[in-house]
Amino acid sequence: MIGILDSGIGGVSVLKEIVKLIPNGYFIYYSDSINNPYGDKSDDEVYAIVKEKVDYFLSRGVVAIVLACNTASAICAKKLRSEYPDTLFIAIEPAYKMVYDHNPLGKTLVMATKGTINSEKFLALYHKYDNDNTILLPCSGLAELVEKDDQTLIDNYLDEHLKDYKGVDNVVLGCTHYPLIKNNIKKVLGDVNFFDGSNGVSRELLRQLELRGINYIKDGDRLHFEFIDSSNDFSKELRFKKILESND
Ligand code: DGL
Repeated sequence: MIGILDSGIGGVSVLKEIVKLIPNGYFIYYSDSINNPYGDKSDDEVYAIVKEKVDYFLSRGVVAIVLACNTASAICAKKLRSEYPDTLFIAIEPAYKMVYDHNPLGKTLVMATKGTINSEKFLALYHKYDNDNTILLPCSGLAELVEKDDQTLIDNYLDEHLKDYKGVDNVVLGCTHYPLIKNNIKKVLGDVNFFDGSNGVSRELLRQLELRGINYIKDGDRLHFEFIDSSNDFSKELRFKKILESND
């Protein structure tokens, strides 16, 4: 079993990519929506919340944990790896290097939570690949709106916060909730190039499982999902399935 964690529904954008590479996996998706947003909490608060979910996954016998949340990854991955040396943690990060590889001179907007943008881990990545043509935009409150799926509030938020950045070439979706609102972002910024870390994370997960010879298939050859939502909101599971099955 593979555990996937996010502060709500956003990590489904990562799970979708994982399933393309591991179509016969058994996944436990933990949507910690009761603690959303992680991005505006202190590092200690986020670590305590994430550690609790890690202990839950381990009690269920998972063989790997994917932090399908840029904020949790930026704040917790290093500490978790030292506290749980026998556990495989796969962490995501804003796809800023991907921009450098594909369009190094383009004007780039990095959208992420405040927690991610201020993290040591992200700032190190940013300074390594900075093209002097990049705007870092902490989007406090946006993941919460995506979690609530209120399209009007999302559009109003984006109108207000993105209007000054019309004309950017690249947008880094540095929070796993944001790939779910690509069409809303396009309404303000037009046809930009989007970059997110979900494909890289999926490839890294498969690579590590194979490298370590970990058997991640349970009960035969088909795909299994378990969906847990910490606020016991049953509508989340429907949304989870809808996103997984959509072709976007
Ligand atoms: N989906 C999350 C991320 O990738 C976090 C959103 C939040 O809880 O603030 O950063």
